[in-house]
Amino acid sequence: LGVEDAEYVVSLIRTIPDFPKPGIHFRDFTPAMTDARGLQLMLKALERTLPVPADQIDLIAGLEARGFLLGPALAAHLGKGFVPVRKAGKLPPETIKESYELEYGTASIEIETAAVHNGQRVLIVDDLIATGGTAAAAAKLIESAGGKVAGFSFVMELQGLDGRAALGDHPVASLTVMP
Ligand code: PRP
Ligand code: ADE
Repeated sequence: LGVEDAEYVVSLIRTIPDFPKPGIHFRDFTPAMTDARGLQLMLKALERTLPVPADQIDLIAGLEARGFLLGPALAAHLGKGFVPVRKAGKLPPETIKESYELEYGTASIEIETAAVHNGQRVLIVDDLIATGGTAAAAAKLIESAGGKVAGFSFVMELQGLDGRAALGDHPVASLTVMP
């Protein structure tokens, strides 16, 4: 798998200006999932750039909604299980909740308490990191549930928002940085 393969994946990412509101360049990775070669190369590129070796990961956690597209595919590709981190109010109890800051106001996400076993090493996966608020809240959930955060894998990180600073000392991987 060459650098040009990751470049092919990145070339499929679509930018929609002024969505969902004026001034936002919305970065949409779904064309890379629709394209058969793109999807396969995306999984291989994520595997190649894992922030820790695959044998140091017990479980993959994906963040609603776009981490639900990517996470289970990566988990199956690596031979790991998958745990969903949902927007609050969707999972039956027992759950743990964590709130985080959005550009305006706050949001909350939840995990099923029993889904993560004590000491399991969890890789957190999402399409994109912007401010890092969502991913940082997910890391707190994993730790509250008794897991250890192995690291984070993203397809994209948005430049200038310093999202990595929100993730403490955990190792972070991304396939590309977008302006
Ligand atoms: C997007 C993206 C990440 C999050 C990143 O999801 O998929 O989960 O934003 O932003 P942050 O780093 O500033 O927290 P969004 O909240 O738009 O939800 P969606 O996946 O349901 O569209
Ligand atoms: N989440 C936060 N910022 C985003 C952006 N620019 N594009 C897609 N998803 C996002």
